[in-house]
Amino acid sequence: PLVTSKGMLLDAQKGNYAVGAFNVENMEMVMAVVEAAQEMQSPVILQTTPSTVRYAGFNLYYANVKAVAERATVPVALHLDHGSSFELAVQALREGYTSIMIDGSQLPWEENTGLTRRVVETCRPCRVPVEAELGCVGGKEDDRSSRNSGLTSPAQAAEFVEKTGIDFLAVAIGTSHGVYKGAPRIRLDLLGEIKKYVSVPLVLHGTSGVEDEVVRSCIQEGICKVNYATDLRIAFSDGIKRILNEDSSVIDPKIYGKMGKELVKRYVQDKIWVCKSSGRG
Ligand code: 13P
Ligand code: ZN
Ligand code: NA
Repeated sequence: PLVTSKGMLLDAQKGNYAVGAFNVENMEMVMAVVEAAQEMQSPVILQTTPSTVRYAGFNLYYANVKAVAERATVPVALHLDHGSSFELAVQALREGYTSIMIDGSQLPWEENTGLTRRVVETCRPCRVPVEAELGCVGGKEDDRSSRNSGLTSPAQAAEFVEKTGIDFLAVAIGTSHGVYKGAPRIRLDLLGEIKKYVSVPLVLHGTSGVEDEVVRSCIQEGICKVNYATDLRIAFSDGIKRILNEDSSVIDPKIYGKMGKELVKRYVQDKIWVCKSSGRG
């Protein structure tokens, strides 16, 4: 069923595992992610960025995820990823999203804190949890490239969580969105420090391209939500190319869509295994 991400991530924190959060763009990706989670008896989060929401509308993603989640017995949450304004966050809330990120990480401290606090105050009566970011995960996320970069400061993180009342904190510890050129340097030491200062579940962004073993270590150090986007796009597109390159006369979207879906599903199952969340759903 469709539930909020709050209980999922608190359970993950207690159990020393993480819940995978997978960016979806279309019906096949929605089906792939939920089927993967169902087969592995794992909780799962599906998320859409602002550009994805602009592509098809909140209501289409909500209806898709709601329908697919109702066929499943495992908990499924629908999350707004990198919410870019107060208005968009409120719209997601009204459309039935069960988890919301407000990303003011590009704003100065006072503005990020103020915006985030306002979103928390709006979502709390509906019991919809809020994720926010402090510091900056680099790279190209969504259709926006980040201007500043900078790792999360542990002391500031504590103050940020306290002032805003957020449920989850996204940390910048060296990952970046998109594929990496060369191996990323992930600051596990910094993550350990942040965990000492902050008690809410922590979120890892930019995980496509990070080695599974490194992700495992991050989970050991307090990461409870792990975001994957770029690799799902690649998997879906690879599936479609595989079919059309073999036989360019195929015209039934079900035929190549099915292969796209299959490769996304395999990828998600692999990452659920990395997150150690199977059997927790
Ligand atoms: P990647 O595209 O690097 O997997 O990042 C995903 C992400 O952080 C979504 O918010
Ligand atoms: Zn992200
Ligand atoms: Na990445």
